[in-house]
Amino acid sequence: MAADRSGLAGRTITADTRRRVWGFARPYRAAIAVFIVTTVASTFLGLVPPLVIREVFDSAIAEGDGGYLNVLFVVLIATAAGEALLMLVGRRLSSGIGESLILDLRLRLFDHVQRMPLAFFTRTQTGTLVSRLNNDVIGAQRAFTGTLGTVVANIITLVATLVTMVLLEWRLTLLAVAILPVFVLPARRVGRGLQAITREGMNLNASMNNTMTERFNVAGALLVKLFGRHDDEAADFSDRAGRVRDIGVRSAMYSQVFLIALTLVGAVGTAIVYWLGGHLAIDGSLSAGTLVALGLYTVRIYVPLTSLSNARVDVMSAFVSFERVFEVLDTPNPITDAADARDLPRPEGRVEFRGVHFAYPSADGTPESLGVAAADSEAGPEDPVEVLSGIDLAVPAGSMVAVVGPSGSGKTTLVSLVPRLYDVTAGEVLVDGLDVRRLSQASLRAAIGTVTQDPHLFHDTVASNLRYARPDAADTLLVEACRAARIHDVIAALPDGYDTMVGERGYRLSGGEKQRLAIARMLLKDPAIVILDEATSHLDTENEALVQEALTEALRGRTSLVVAHRLSTIVDADVIVVLDEGRIVEMGTHDELRPAGGLYAELYEGLLRAEVAKAAAPTTEAVETAAPTTEAPETAGPTTETAKTTGPTTETTETTGPTTETTETTGPTTETAEAAGR
Ligand SMILES: Nc1ncnc2c1ncn2[C@@H]1O[C@H](COP(=O)(O)OP(=O)(O)O)[C@@H](O)[C@H]1O
Ligand SMILES: [Mg+2]
Repeated sequence: MAADRSGLAGRTITADTRRRVWGFARPYRAAIAVFIVTTVASTFLGLVPPLVIREVFDSAIAEGDGGYLNVLFVVLIATAAGEALLMLVGRRLSSGIGESLILDLRLRLFDHVQRMPLAFFTRTQTGTLVSRLNNDVIGAQRAFTGTLGTVVANIITLVATLVTMVLLEWRLTLLAVAILPVFVLPARRVGRGLQAITREGMNLNASMNNTMTERFNVAGALLVKLFGRHDDEAADFSDRAGRVRDIGVRSAMYSQVFLIALTLVGAVGTAIVYWLGGHLAIDGSLSAGTLVALGLYTVRIYVPLTSLSNARVDVMSAFVSFERVFEVLDTPNPITDAADARDLPRPEGRVEFRGVHFAYPSADGTPESLGVAAADSEAGPEDPVEVLSGIDLAVPAGSMVAVVGPSGSGKTTLVSLVPRLYDVTAGEVLVDGLDVRRLSQASLRAAIGTVTQDPHLFHDTVASNLRYARPDAADTLLVEACRAARIHDVIAALPDGYDTMVGERGYRLSGGEKQRLAIARMLLKDPAIVILDEATSHLDTENEALVQEALTEALRGRTSLVVAHRLSTIVDADVIVVLDEGRIVEMGTHDELRPAGGLYAELYEGLLRAEVAKAAAPTTEAVETAAPTTEAPETAGPTTETAKTTGPTTETTETTGPTTETTETTGPTTETAEAAGR
């Protein structure tokens, strides 16, 4: 919850914001109208009891009329009952309006945010977004039910009560009102102070919660342990939590002072009315009943007056919440379906890059308050750096392209342009001959199955994670896909089989198992195009071989773009694309590129060396760095694949019989997606 909220002073609400807020309230016009009528009605009912009590004194008692007293008794009870009923109805209406409004805002925000391009999420802080969905939405809701509701009720109460009082005895009324400023002005100050404290308290709480969230997830807890920072963490936390305590005490004192001030105003005001009114009664110019009624009314004007004196700030805060919600809703989404977007009903899987240039988008349009990472703090230059330059590449349906190159050369970026995770800066990416920007995103992404370097699993069962790709998949289909991805045996051995919870808080699958599960999920989707960002760093020997088998199955009959780190994958590819600093520097088959003595040959040598080192130390973890700057793919003869893990930063490689080439890849021309009978 941001500090920018405290800058309320001098803020104005633009007509545009007011119009939009009203736009959200529109569907509830009728309910709001009924709510106001209810409020007015209950306010007027509230005026009745003092008048009845006046009658008790001045008529019933004075004239000794027991029958009239009975009538007055019934009226008092009926009024109280009526007021109770109206309050109940009013609360039902206001909570209905308020909660529906929260729902509307939340749904709009959630949907807008989840459709934002990937670049948005790399720039914003998740915590800030979640806070918009929670706190600001609730703050905005207060504008209607809390603030507007009480403001309306208070104004009506105040005006109606004052008018009644003036009609009863205008001199006393003037007096009661005259002493108000003495109390209302300090109360107003306290009210503002309280609001500032509440805001600060929310910020402190958020910061304390952030600390806990970060330290108590697995990765954070591990970091704290490994660096032995428990004591420092405890000290830091104690500091934050201590400030939360202090602000809690201050907030309690402020509220109490506020409450006491209010009670005092009421007490003093009432005393003055009875004192002066009593003298008037002694003189005979005021009846006892009228005096009692005036005393009762006096209390009723101080509460609304005090709260109205803070109304401006309340309304402003509520509108600021709205503005903060609008800020997110207004963040432009550069990747949307074109108005005339077409569907891709029977994708063949042809992929083509034509003169593609790409630079990661800058933070344009994303509000800074969402925690946008300062883009130029590290990179330096104002212009975004071009990550891909002049890429031309045609991938026929059913063929397999291996993308290789040093780390940071743009391999991941290149393949992420096909499912339109980003839009090209210049040039075109085409699927089946159509620019991806002219296709509907839904049909484009349905045609593409992606397995990323570090696949994500939701905190849910294995089966639910698999069904994310195809919600209606039967159990047998899940098993089939998992068998194909060589992960079924692992899942079957889990404590609850396919019902085992996985993900961040669940059963922890190894890197290789996770990747095979992701391959199974991708197989369920049955896409025409497969994009694979091979993760190599966390595969052990056995996993590597299994992943290789899984891949062979997964890629059959599909167009595939594989960011390859294993020689076996590379060697099998129909075309190898060698990227360096965002350009294609070499392209061809293994047999063509190997003798050319270029970057490919260099990368390849690195893989070989790595494999030799691996073979020399088969049991220990081999940490070989191949050509220093390059990512060393590991590979093996397709049957004898061995891989192993190393520290997270070093990518390991091994290779075996580099010459034994197996070609289980599909002939590029013969098998199209449909031909494969998918
Ligand atoms: N979200 C991003 N925003 C800005 N720059 C990025 C982003 N992702 C990657 N880059 C940069 O783009 C370049 C290519 O990255 P990437 O495609 O991940 O390389 P590779 O997969 O070949 O290792 C790198 O210089 C990297 O720093
Ligand atoms: Mg990468």
